[in-house]
Amino acid sequence: MTIYEAMKARHAVRSYEDKKIEESVIEALNEEINKCNHEGTLTTQLILNDKNVFKGLMAHYGGFRGVSNYIALVGPIGEKLEEKAGYYGEHIALKAQQLGLNTCWVAVTYKKGRSKAVIGDNEKLVCVLALGYGTTQGVPHKSKKMEQLFKADRDMPEWFRKGMEAAMLAPTAQNKQDFLIVLNGEDVKFEVKEGKYSKIDLGIIKYHFQNGTGL
Ligand SMILES: Cc1cc2nc3c(=O)[nH]c(=O)nc-3n(C[C@H](O)[C@H](O)[C@H](O)COP(=O)(O)O)c2cc1C
Repeated sequence: MTIYEAMKARHAVRSYEDKKIEESVIEALNEEINKCNHEGTLTTQLILNDKNVFKGLMAHYGGFRGVSNYIALVGPIGEKLEEKAGYYGEHIALKAQQLGLNTCWVAVTYKKGRSKAVIGDNEKLVCVLALGYGTTQGVPHKSKKMEQLFKADRDMPEWFRKGMEAAMLAPTAQNKQDFLIVLNGEDVKFEVKEGKYSKIDLGIIKYHFQNGTGL
């Protein structure tokens, strides 16, 4: 499965089978997480067999069922932390998809305080990715039209159109898609409407666009 195929196949999945993740899959995922941590200066962790953070009313009403594994997106507090968590988190979510797993980004509907993730001094748990074998593959999100999501100073080049198609597949908090991608000369700018999770969204959108262009 190519990265673009993984983008098309990935949808938020909130209900999981009671099935352990295979050892070889765990190894491959941890390898990817380590690479991301190195490149992005993060301390993201794969947490297995911990049902506690998705217990309780909030997770229940959020529609989560059978979540025992998650990826805790952690890193040093700083201006770029949220964006980096979005960027590298989405890389990991797509890798998980390629490995036959399902995921869901979760910033609100979980018990943050119960997480087993190791969070150092001056570090923060940004959000988590629920992880496992889904009871379904989820469904494609409703998307705004491409015209609402970009501005260009000329007829759109093919590489930009491909990037836009990938950006439209990106998950955003509450599926708001409050972003605009602006092409000016050879320069591409990413704008997001100010919001609690907009910097995480920004990182996710950048990852999709950059990996979608095929450049
Ligand atoms: C930053 C972020 C935070 C999110 N937080 C939650 C959450 O707390 N609870 C939840 O059920 N879904 C959450 N989601 C999942 C979104 O609702 C979902 O990604 C969006 O509706 C798009 O659907 P898709 O992931 O299937 O493309 C979050 C997504 C993002 C990107």
